[in-house]
Amino acid sequence: MKQLYVTAALAVVLSGCAGSNDFTPAADASGEDIFKLACAECHSADVGKIYDLDESMANAAAVKAKIGKGSMAMPGFPNIKGAQLDALADYVLANSNVAP
Ligand code: HEC
Repeated sequence: MKQLYVTAALAVVLSGCAGSNDFTPAADASGEDIFKLACAECHSADVGKIYDLDESMANAAAVKAKIGKGSMAMPGFPNIKGAQLDALADYVLANSNVAP
């Protein structure tokens, strides 16, 4: 099992990014529903607020860009879009600490 994690981590490093996740939300899913299904495996609110966002990330445009593109360590979610992406970004911002 440990070998599997090492291989997965190596794949992420070698490909240079965490790739793309094809999760597609149900038409009636709320921002919170989407978060629980697509994001909570890596981001948890068990200890209060989900994120501590710095100034550059604490706005809907930055959060939406992050969700769409991902990063080195986070997959992008190109199929979360439109009103549902707005709702998810609202949920993230409403549940984050924002640096002054
Ligand atoms: C496979 C694990 C994984 C999944 C799934 C994932 N993320 Fe992330 N996310 C990360 C990691 C690791 C970071 C920190 C590194 C970085 O910023 O790239 C991060 C960073 C972020 C940040 C920036 C936080 C900051 O402090 O700047 C936001 C916002 C975010 N994720 C939102 C989401 C949302 C919304 C989803 C669901 C659509 C999601 N993530 C799904 C791993 C994940």
